[in-house]
Amino acid sequence: MTPPKPPSRPDRVSMLRYLRLFRADILSAQPARLYRAWMAEFRTPFFRSYLVNDPQIVRTVLRERPADFPKSGRVAEGLRPLLGRSVFLTNGAEWQRQRRIIDPAFEGGRLRETFPAMLAAAGAARDRLERRVGEVVEIEAETSHAAADVIFRTLFSLPIEDALARRVFDAFRAYQRSQPILNLAAFLPLPAWVPRFHRREARVAARLIRTLIAELVARRRDEIAAGTAPDDLATKIMTTPDPETGETFSAAEMVDQVAIFFLAGHETSASALAWALWLVASHPDWQDRLAEEARLIGDGAAFGDVARLRLARDVFRETLRLYPPVPMMVRETACSERFRRRAVPEGAQIVLSPWHQHRHERIWSDPDGFDPGRWRTEEGRRCGREAYMPFSAGPRVCPGAGFAMVEGPLLLAVILRDFRLSVLPGELPEPIAFLTVRSRNGIRLRVERR
Ligand code: HEM
Repeated sequence: MTPPKPPSRPDRVSMLRYLRLFRADILSAQPARLYRAWMAEFRTPFFRSYLVNDPQIVRTVLRERPADFPKSGRVAEGLRPLLGRSVFLTNGAEWQRQRRIIDPAFEGGRLRETFPAMLAAAGAARDRLERRVGEVVEIEAETSHAAADVIFRTLFSLPIEDALARRVFDAFRAYQRSQPILNLAAFLPLPAWVPRFHRREARVAARLIRTLIAELVARRRDEIAAGTAPDDLATKIMTTPDPETGETFSAAEMVDQVAIFFLAGHETSASALAWALWLVASHPDWQDRLAEEARLIGDGAAFGDVARLRLARDVFRETLRLYPPVPMMVRETACSERFRRRAVPEGAQIVLSPWHQHRHERIWSDPDGFDPGRWRTEEGRRCGREAYMPFSAGPRVCPGAGFAMVEGPLLLAVILRDFRLSVLPGELPEPIAFLTVRSRNGIRLRVERR
């Protein structure tokens, strides 16, 4: 079964129609030619935007000259009420300093230390599904719960059952419902002075989330001072001094960073896991192979065991290719450029689209097919190096990439070891870009004991 892909719009539509389509969903608002084009220009009355698929230009923007392509202020605008000055939104020296403090918390050795917390969250997800055997389950709700639990346990040593953790999770859900599309502002052809998108409910939810996180951070500061803090990611980040200035994050800065860890860390993993489970449910041969491999992971598994889950890793990689949770990223040109013999003015929006690059018809063979085996072929590996960026690339690469590549295969293994999932006849999920790539009406799967 070919995995679902959103319909494309006709090549030429009026600006008004484009806007309407855009508001509904950025993926289906795009024309089919973007799956073949190396570069496309969108002229609007107020600014120019360029979607770039050419691997060499993407390399220039992300790896070779990232300082000339800072994050777009238009995207930051929509997320500011929730994320303040978090590492996701800053640029230049402020961003560099934040990464110097954050990056060590996600290094390999630290990942090993957070593994028991991750395994416990995977076990809890398994137990929740155990209570639903024989039922049809909305799997996105389950993976959101599981991914949030992973973040709370690894960051703050709290299971999601903790009252404060639960309130943060609920407030995030309210926020997501009121603020549907992450990068919308960056594409919309409106000048910066037009007020938009800080809808009242989103602002209220953002304020509540930040109040609750401030409480978690204050509690942890007291524990660090008293010498009773658990040795988790929050403690690590709050006690790591910037190697250049010797300063640590202030409590207020830490609230901004925790907000992005929750948002970037749980929404994305939840999206990827839900699609992965749908893909294996619709490809029972792969599901059986993963279940067999998953026997390598017992309840007392060690960090090193995850490296043996090679098939689960290939399935997770292939899921991130077909359904990259962050479908598009936006940068701005700091000076004028020349791309593919075209002049690109200063202040233009550069859209990098994992969604289109991963399904590019001139790069991948069988671009829309689910084929985890491609990652074992020379061609698949070459395409992976050239045109695969679910975690972005270069200095602004996702700091949680290593974390996510342990979490995803581990959760797949722990779930598929014990349960058999099947799709419902005639029911196909419909990909749509909310905050991340989700299914318009959720993903329903039948859960049976294996
Ligand atoms: C499958 C899971 C994940 C995917 C696909 C993913 C993807 C991405 C992508 C594409 C970006 C770059 C966005 C841009 O440049 O506009 C990013 C940034 C980021 N991600 Fe992730 N991410 C995942 C999991 C995580 C986790 C688990 C964490 C933390 C616990 C995390 C924390 C962050 C942070 C802090 C940034 C901002 C980095 C910066 O701008 O310097 N992510 N992620």
